Amino acid sequence: MNLAIQGLGRMGRLFLRTALQRGLPVVAINEPKGDPDTLALGIEFDSVHGRYERPCRGEPGALWVGDRRIALTQTTDAAALPWRQHEVGLVVECSGKVKKQDGLQPHFAHGVRAVVVSNPVPGVPNLVVGVNDRGVDFAREPVITAASCTTNCLAPLVRVLHDGLGIERGVVTTIHDPTNTQGVVDRADTDPRRARSALLNLIPTTTNSATAVTLIVPELRGKLDSIAVRAPVLNASLTDCAFHVSRPTTVDEVNGLLRAASEQGPLRGILGYETRPLVSSDFARDPRSAIVDALCTRVVDGRLVKVMAWYDNEWGYCNRMADLVQQVLRARA
Ligand SMILES: NC(=O)c1ccc[n+]([C@@H]2O[C@H](COP(=O)([O-])OP(=O)(O)OC[C@H]3O[C@@H](n4cnc5c(N)ncnc54)[C@H](OP(=O)(O)O)[C@@H]3O)[C@@H](O)[C@H]2O)c1
Repeated sequence: MNLAIQGLGRMGRLFLRTALQRGLPVVAINEPKGDPDTLALGIEFDSVHGRYERPCRGEPGALWVGDRRIALTQTTDAAALPWRQHEVGLVVECSGKVKKQDGLQPHFAHGVRAVVVSNPVPGVPNLVVGVNDRGVDFAREPVITAASCTTNCLAPLVRVLHDGLGIERGVVTTIHDPTNTQGVVDRADTDPRRARSALLNLIPTTTNSATAVTLIVPELRGKLDSIAVRAPVLNASLTDCAFHVSRPTTVDEVNGLLRAASEQGPLRGILGYETRPLVSSDFARDPRSAIVDALCTRVVDGRLVKVMAWYDNEWGYCNRMADLVQQVLRARA
């Protein structure tokens, strides 16, 4: 089944890299902004992830990545998307513009059979690989989302600690890299904090990652909350969790549960466990969803547990989208 990418921003470009690395058949891209040469430069040269292994170039109506030619359209008119012409069966929707299921209908009108969205959409299954992707009928679900990058980091931790210790309540702070929702210097914005320079500030802002986790672990509904602090660091991000658990525990037990889950079972390859004293840049380009920093685990008075986990919010997330895309392709082969 042929793939198309809608939106060649951070997610679109990096999903393209992961997809090509895995040999997935990306045949078309739609990105309204930038001429083909400029877009090709943006695929080959990336400030965070470095130079791509193959040379890229643009020509009218196409992008070349090595010897692969990918058709390029540059429209915001959904009626003009050329998915039928390129026999696209699956769209990876990375524009960040789709907030409701209605917004995905144009893809289906062009003959597409499935859409994987890079952001949560109300009413669409939020799939966190290793946590709730088992038993999903990928041949039947027309639309899925890979939830958010922070949900992918948090959900494995919650799953393991809730199963092992019983989480009663928790609050999470993600110390997160800047994204294109922020400005380089101060600007006008409806959000007064995102209006401020991402280069210079620690910026408290919202994330609904913990609420999203409670859709996956419903017994924790109303028991988890989260906040983000955008930090001027590229890359990776860090999730700092405080959980009140149902029985007394120890640092060794908490770390033992997380280490065991990282070594076997559905979270192997998704959840990492690190005992060396590393820093954020050591986790850039790490394809896993969450890497527990075992040296940071704390237990206060038996039942208050603090756990920290690193994640490359871009590369880890794009790898999870690619995992889901592969599951759809296998189910619909
Ligand atoms: N960045 C992360 O770490 C991350 C991680 C996980 C999930 N996500 C989610 O993924 C989504 C995209 O995020 P991003 O960071 O990749 O944003 P981004 O860098 O701004 O990329 C979005 C791209 O889509 C383009 N676009 C806008 N309207 C379009 C349309 N109608 N058709 C095709 N392309 C269109 C945008 O162009 P313009 O600039 O002209 O609008 C932009 O180039 C967001 O919902 C975000 O929450 C992001």
